[in-house]
Amino acid sequence: MKLDNRVAIVTGAGSGIGRAMATLFAAEGARVVVADIVAERVDETVAAIRTAGGEATGFVGDVSSPEDVARMIDLASETYGRLDILCNNAGIMDRMAPAADVPLDLWERVLRINLTGPFLACRKAIPLMRAQGGGVILNTASVAGLHGGRAGAAYTASKHGVIGLTRNIAYMYATEGIRCNAICPGGTETAIGLGGEPNEFGLNRMQLGAASMPRTGKPEEIARVALHLVSDDSSFVNGAVVVVDGGWSAY
Ligand SMILES: NC(=O)c1ccc[n+]([C@@H]2O[C@H](COP(=O)([O-])OP(=O)(O)OC[C@H]3O[C@@H](n4cnc5c(N)ncnc54)[C@H](O)[C@@H]3O)[C@@H](O)[C@H]2O)c1
Repeated sequence: MKLDNRVAIVTGAGSGIGRAMATLFAAEGARVVVADIVAERVDETVAAIRTAGGEATGFVGDVSSPEDVARMIDLASETYGRLDILCNNAGIMDRMAPAADVPLDLWERVLRINLTGPFLACRKAIPLMRAQGGGVILNTASVAGLHGGRAGAAYTASKHGVIGLTRNIAYMYATEGIRCNAICPGGTETAIGLGGEPNEFGLNRMQLGAASMPRTGKPEEIARVALHLVSDDSSFVNGAVVVVDGGWSAY
């Protein structure tokens, strides 16, 4: 098994890509803290992992709250004695709103959850990882973190920010045994939706490019690449931005 004796946190693990990551990591031997803001979703993922014979602990909290994030990291180290893998995966969409139409509260909410959330968790986890001699961080960005037309302004800016944060951490701590990479899914079959009533203009602009998407992906297809990035198989991969989109951005 690729993750024997590893301790992992996966945020947004109550659904979609995060649930697939948490389930696969547990099947590969990791003890997983399943974190999500929706309690029932946490319970479902934890139950699925335990039913399959894996080890998991649930955590209900908001990744954009410094207090919740501190409790989440503490839970991992108090329950399992260490933290080897942090997957900052929780995220929300932005209704495809272009800049002129983005209400400030939507902008702030998307940035807080998608970008401040991963920053808060990294800030708290890195000292722990340094003290124990290393660790792995994987941030879920998006093809919207590399291109301009995949979502609205707030989501696009937040995911570009996640890639910048990833590269900065990768460089800063490269000699401390910490690896930090980003995974960029293309359109994936999850519950994420558009984040509310879509902005018609933004959606129409986005859909022009969406026509070139070869197909949508399954959460498990993202999770298998994530497993590679958090395991020792990728021990020399640091600061990488790995696109998993079936060729959408090859167009
Ligand atoms: N589905 C796609 O097409 C796609 C494409 C590229 C990137 N992504 C990214 O993948 C990640 C996972 O998304 P998904 O598609 O699996 O969506 P999803 O909606 O199925 O799952 C996201 C989970 O995050 C949780 N969450 C939301 N806000 C939270 C918060 N503040 N604190 C803690 N948990 C919170 C939700 O409750 C949900 O269970 C996101 O970062 C998303 O931006 C998704």
